[in-house]
Amino acid sequence: MTNGKILIIDDERSVCETLQAALSKKGYAVAWRTSAEEGFAQLLAEDFDAVVTDIHMRGLSGLELCERVVQNRPDLPVIVITAFGSMDTAIAAIRAGAYDFITKPFETDALRMTLERAVRHGRLREEVKRLRRAVAEKQSVDEIVGASAAMRGVYDMIERVADSTASVLVTGESGTGKELVARALHRRGQRRAGPFVAINCAALPEALLESELFGHARGAFTDARAARAGLFAKADGGTLFLDEIGEMPVGLQPKLLRALQERKVRPLGGDAEVPFDARIVTATNRDLESAVEERAFREDLFYRINVVHIELPPLRSRGADVLLLAQRFIEHFAAAAGRAVKGLSAAAADKLLAYAWPGNVRELSNCIERAVALARYDELAVEDLPEKIRSYRRSHVVVAAEDPSELVSLEEVERRYVLRVVETVGGNKTMAAQVLGLDRATLYRKLVRYGAAR
Ligand SMILES: Nc1ncnc2c1ncn2[C@@H]1O[C@H](COP(=O)(O)OP(=O)(O)OP(=O)(O)O)[C@@H](O)[C@H]1O
Ligand SMILES: [Mg+2]
Repeated sequence: MTNGKILIIDDERSVCETLQAALSKKGYAVAWRTSAEEGFAQLLAEDFDAVVTDIHMRGLSGLELCERVVQNRPDLPVIVITAFGSMDTAIAAIRAGAYDFITKPFETDALRMTLERAVRHGRLREEVKRLRRAVAEKQSVDEIVGASAAMRGVYDMIERVADSTASVLVTGESGTGKELVARALHRRGQRRAGPFVAINCAALPEALLESELFGHARGAFTDARAARAGLFAKADGGTLFLDEIGEMPVGLQPKLLRALQERKVRPLGGDAEVPFDARIVTATNRDLESAVEERAFREDLFYRINVVHIELPPLRSRGADVLLLAQRFIEHFAAAAGRAVKGLSAAAADKLLAYAWPGNVRELSNCIERAVALARYDELAVEDLPEKIRSYRRSHVVVAAEDPSELVSLEEVERRYVLRVVETVGGNKTMAAQVLGLDRATLYRKLVRYGAAR
């Protein structure tokens, strides 16, 4: 595997040979031609990752070559070599569709860096195209999209346990798809013909949650004019999904434990025990083990629900799934809004890959919905993404960059550094202000300006 396959076009043979020698040493496979006509024929016949061409040549010029490449090989990046001080030519080249330009005389390293970016850009464009096909071919299980090793592990688990009745605990950060997994378990299991009943344990006050879950007899409390079956009974023959199980009130936990152990519930105010036959799936984004240590969650209940554990990886550790999901969401939201957006630009794809996605798939979905609404072209551009994703740099502050395009304003350095410090101290503003030598009010004003105040 080379760093890329490069075609060099320059009418001076010695220039071609020098560049070939230098770039081969850096791990590129290099071919060269001394006229644009020959070069063009070659790039039609063979796959290259990038073309480097001189602008002034006899016959077909570098500019005309750019135009032809745009017409015939739109994904192939062309880097144009211009003479020092001829900015107009450089601009004309970019207008003609060149990916970038480099002025003579140049260091091989500068060319190598430009090439590195160009090759990456070209490959991303291909990847984005491949994704469109992949989404069309449904690289997903039910509605769960993802082809990363981490997600394949999850599909494997779903497959293996779907048919059993063992209780499954699904954990993962907020927005990672826990509910989707719970539904997939139901759909793929033996009880798929039965009901899927879900309840969010954090959404109801204790008394209401209790009567919802276990049901009540007639006259059990003031408003109980008629007997009502609880969700355990309603889920009979199917799956009962207890979402946010970590928020289950401590007072209700013993009753839940008994129900799970005995597979029977006793409705409030009733004296008969009602057996139920439902698969129990629970989910939480809380760390239940520490909740157990803090005595906020009963240990025996924890073991009872945690017979099988499926842990959803955060989106940032799913690699290119980010792009696969983005493509799926683009198609979904474009269709819903009747917009002609078809995919991602390579630069936007790059930004999505670099971002850390604290809100996981839900955040990505929101981001794409908004971007589709803003989009002006049929590909989402970097401008369509929220500021925090556009300017995100993976937790390092670039102060001395090798690449001139990475150099940023003082204000931007400040912004990144402030956000980095806040992140490092776990969001503790007092500590962050201390580290930064600011008072809290000033820090707060800055965070508001960055759209990062919470
Ligand atoms: N792998 C995936 N493929 C497609 N859509 C997904 C995927 N994961 C999550 N989603 C979508 O993202 C949104 C959030 O997923 P879900 O509600 O399942 O997350 P959650 O883990 O239950 O989050 P929370 O802890 O906040 O309740 C939903 O709209 C869901 O359809
Ligand atoms: Mg959820």
